[in-house]
Amino acid sequence: MNVPLFSPLQVRSLLLKNRLVMSPMQQYLSPDGLVGAWHLVHLGSRAVGGVGLVITEATAVSPEGRNTLFDTGLWNEAQVEAWKPIIQFVQAQGAKIAVQLWHAGGKGSHAHPTAGFHYLPPTDGGWVTKSASAVSLDKQHTAEALTMTEIATLVADFAQAATRAVHAGFDAIELHAGHGYLLHQFYSALANHRSDAYGGSFENRIRLLLEVVDAIRAVIPEAMPLLVRLSAVDFSDEEHAWHLADSVRLVAVLQQHGVDVVTASAGVFSAPDRAKLVPSYQVPYAEKIKADTGILTGAVGLITTPEQANELIATGQADLIMLARELLRDPYFPLRAATVLHADTPVPTPYTRAFPSSGR
Ligand SMILES: Cc1cc2nc3c(=O)[nH]c(=O)nc-3n(C[C@H](O)[C@H](O)[C@H](O)COP(=O)(O)O)c2cc1C
Repeated sequence: MNVPLFSPLQVRSLLLKNRLVMSPMQQYLSPDGLVGAWHLVHLGSRAVGGVGLVITEATAVSPEGRNTLFDTGLWNEAQVEAWKPIIQFVQAQGAKIAVQLWHAGGKGSHAHPTAGFHYLPPTDGGWVTKSASAVSLDKQHTAEALTMTEIATLVADFAQAATRAVHAGFDAIELHAGHGYLLHQFYSALANHRSDAYGGSFENRIRLLLEVVDAIRAVIPEAMPLLVRLSAVDFSDEEHAWHLADSVRLVAVLQQHGVDVVTASAGVFSAPDRAKLVPSYQVPYAEKIKADTGILTGAVGLITTPEQANELIATGQADLIMLARELLRDPYFPLRAATVLHADTPVPTPYTRAFPSSGR
């Protein structure tokens, strides 16, 4: 049966078997930025469960790009080697895998969430955080503004991490440019108070993101997709905050710079009104961006049922469905969705006796 959620999608040379994506989810289990057995099972089980694309947790491009001391990284060769078996396992299940690259900027240097997630000063094993401007994003410490030289280094760090991602065997790269982290700290005037070429006008505030996109595109194969996760809105009524119209304008430019897919998330310099957290609450952002620019979009946020996910694809509101917490509850959501929606999807051979419709 032709079920939209289980229709394939081609992005450059990458063929996804369906529209279900594992959304990035930080695990805070990586001292020295190294992935291990947990990540193999955590990411691998969602591949066994049938997602078309796995996106790793936010993976730092440099030690100072981390949010905590336990974030995954891609700033050295040991990290490349640690990723390889995980990538190969995911791919062996017929899924593709993208790494989400990021820099936490002024939100960096925090203790592990179970230890209170408080700012760690350099005297306590942390570091001086850098951002677009001297702002306090956690209300505990003030970041320093990046110098021009440091900005150039940062762009190079992204390019080097992307090169390592290619060597590790990742199928695609997603750039994390949302959730109040460094790239968002530049494009939103809520955090960017610079008066040089990287601040002030819209063009100046998006400059760093474009430089990073260009630097990554320059080192990855032409055929490799580049995804960007944005905060489509700042959840703020302030006039100078980032609004949906800004995202549409930005995405039109990102397309010209070789970005293939945009995931429309939102916040988090401030959290949204809890009353607004209803199913599919962020879908209108993906829908508007897709309608106005024609780019492929990923919808994310409180998508929890097969019918809901299928409807979003069928109606063309988004091209991909990014699932986070629902996949923590049920790693086999795609196999369940295929049964519920009467869709054909490959079932891992050892599991076929549990899925009579798969033919055994
Ligand atoms: C445990 C956890 C960790 C997360 N870590 C990341 C991350 O590393 N990068 C990111 O872009 N979003 C991260 N998110 C946000 C999710 O990818 C997703 O956007 C959000 O949870 C909303 O989707 P959901 O309603 O399906 O959970 C995280 C969410 C959770 C629950």
